[in-house]
Amino acid sequence: MQDLKHVYISEISKYAGRDVCLKGWLYNKRSSGKLHFLQVRDGTGIIQAVVFKGDVDPETFTMADKIPQESSVEVYGTVKEDKRSPAGFEIGVKHLKLVSEAMEYPISPKEHGVAFLLENRHLWLRSPRQHAILKIRNTIIKTIRDYFNNNNFLLIDAPIFTPAACEGTTTLFETEYFDEKAYLTQSGQLYMEGAVMAFGKVYCFGPTFRAEKSKTRRHLTEFWMVEPEMAYYDLNMDMDLAEDFVETIVQSVLNANRAELGLLERDISKLENIKKPFPRISYDEALEILKSKGKEVPWGEDFGGDEETAISENFDGPVMIHRYPAECKAFYMKQDPQNAKLALCVDMIAPEGYGEIIGGGQREDNLDLLLAKIKEHNLNREAFEWYLDLRRYGSVPHAGFGLGIERTVGWLCGLHHVRETIPFPRMMERIKP
Ligand code: 4AD
Ligand code: MG
Repeated sequence: MQDLKHVYISEISKYAGRDVCLKGWLYNKRSSGKLHFLQVRDGTGIIQAVVFKGDVDPETFTMADKIPQESSVEVYGTVKEDKRSPAGFEIGVKHLKLVSEAMEYPISPKEHGVAFLLENRHLWLRSPRQHAILKIRNTIIKTIRDYFNNNNFLLIDAPIFTPAACEGTTTLFETEYFDEKAYLTQSGQLYMEGAVMAFGKVYCFGPTFRAEKSKTRRHLTEFWMVEPEMAYYDLNMDMDLAEDFVETIVQSVLNANRAELGLLERDISKLENIKKPFPRISYDEALEILKSKGKEVPWGEDFGGDEETAISENFDGPVMIHRYPAECKAFYMKQDPQNAKLALCVDMIAPEGYGEIIGGGQREDNLDLLLAKIKEHNLNREAFEWYLDLRRYGSVPHAGFGLGIERTVGWLCGLHHVRETIPFPRMMERIKP
């Protein structure tokens, strides 16, 4: 028995009719007289293991009756086809080995409040729902890496400790760096601008940090962002890339994760619609849409979650809003040569109220205009001298964007809040577990 081949549930169909060993945990159990039905999970799936009194030794039968939820077990038995079960197979148990008996498990398959589940995030991860979400996250990340690898981008890892702000000083996390102050990175963009002048097309992909003091369903204090940067790209080329990229991600999840989307009860028809080209509207046109809905925003203000949701209602896919007022955007945005009050930037707003998933645009490549912006934003010029060099030595038009992974996962999975989109969420009120 003990030397039976260890197989994974995801591959169980290859072993029909054979005796195998599964190594996993007891997810759930029900019993009726001479039968115990154990739901066993091993990380790749869940399968029913049937323990029939007549097939096993008395110790195994008693163990199957008593074994608590989430105990770790090795299951030895025969793989049997079973059309009614979700896996298509079940295990006719011959022997069970208890690896470690679990104490009374705090999360039962019934409903729990979110606060309790977040406290127990390390255990909550074991649920099929979290499994589905994180599998979709995995597909998204794999697709992103493949996309850039297939399109001649070079991966450039950006630093986490930085000497200056990229996205405004109000959300900086400050830390000690020997005798100096440092900040956790808000974005790798400035470093990508340096690298792109060396390598033409680059991207970084890593954690970024923002001391977001608001508790919204879209904000984490630590989130993952992928940031491509391209030399000799203008705003239109940037938008072309962004829509192709997002379409690729959506189609890839639809291909790879039908089962997970089903488990999450995601309305797939809404995702099947996501095909480029995506509509492109100016900030001024977005203001008109808001006005028609009775939401007047004064010219010059950025949009918040409510405005983004209202705008998204007019479209059945992502919409790109370009040319915001420079005054509400970061210092590095290129001034629109047609109108100095506008920045050549773009935000992509996901449909169904999932908010901004991409922020980006063309970068200011003119040294004097950039110097003026650094001053206007009260930034410490010294910390940006290296960045200014990029305009001194062979400056070229260039553009890029950042896609937030968690918002993308939230949208594709149809989740109300980003807290479930990352294994261990960090929010204003949460740094545990
Ligand atoms: O719009 P943001 O701030 O853009 C940048 O950081 C640029 N430097 C990117 C670039 O051009 N290279 O952030 C980009 C995206 C947002 O659209 C959103 O998806 C996500 O990052 N994001 C957040 N996600 C979760 N929690 C937060 N607090 C987020 N802040 C931004
Ligand atoms: Mg933004």
